[in-house]
Amino acid sequence: MKILRYIFLFGGLLLFVLGCYAVYRTLKLDPIQPKITALSFQQKLADGRKQYHVRGCVKCHGISGLADGEKSYRLKASGYFITPLAMPALYLQGSSLSNIEYSLLYGVNTQLLPLAVQGKPSPMPRYTNLTDIEIKNISLYVRLLAGYNDDIENAPAKN
Ligand code: HEC
Repeated sequence: MKILRYIFLFGGLLLFVLGCYAVYRTLKLDPIQPKITALSFQQKLADGRKQYHVRGCVKCHGISGLADGEKSYRLKASGYFITPLAMPALYLQGSSLSNIEYSLLYGVNTQLLPLAVQGKPSPMPRYTNLTDIEIKNISLYVRLLAGYNDDIENAPAKN
């Protein structure tokens, strides 16, 4: 029965150490650790804008979404249609936040494209390697280019 005593002793010790660690965490670390706060709307837009440039969207869609980026001319000359992001009426798959997120992840359904380009593969890459947050922030920025204001936090109260 000696073994049982060791097991109890060891278990007790383990619990004690874990308990000390828990107390240490709550007392010592919590007040120092900065609270993880959600990004503000402006910060999300700033990140979206950064991604829009870093991920190369700007090369086709242009700085203000007029489909006039440096690559756009060659593409348009070869007959491609590049959605001018500043003109939501021309979006083929809709311009809601979730429509845009969908387009980034899955591309545009080729059957929606103008007839002249329907046979061609889309020049726009799929952005499946981005995180959900990156996709969301880029989409928010695209919404800004399209002229929408999604700042619900600071929206004037409706009553
Ligand atoms: C190589 C050029 C190219 C790049 C880079 C590119 N796009 Fe596109 N994009 C296009 C073209 C062309 C279309 C038109 C539909 C198609 O052919 O797939 C399009 C369509 C879209 C649409 C769909 C609009 C609709 O019609 O519903 C959105 C939204 C969009 N792009 C946003 C972006 C964003 C954001 C990025 C960067 C993360 C990006 N694009 C990068 C060429 C590009």
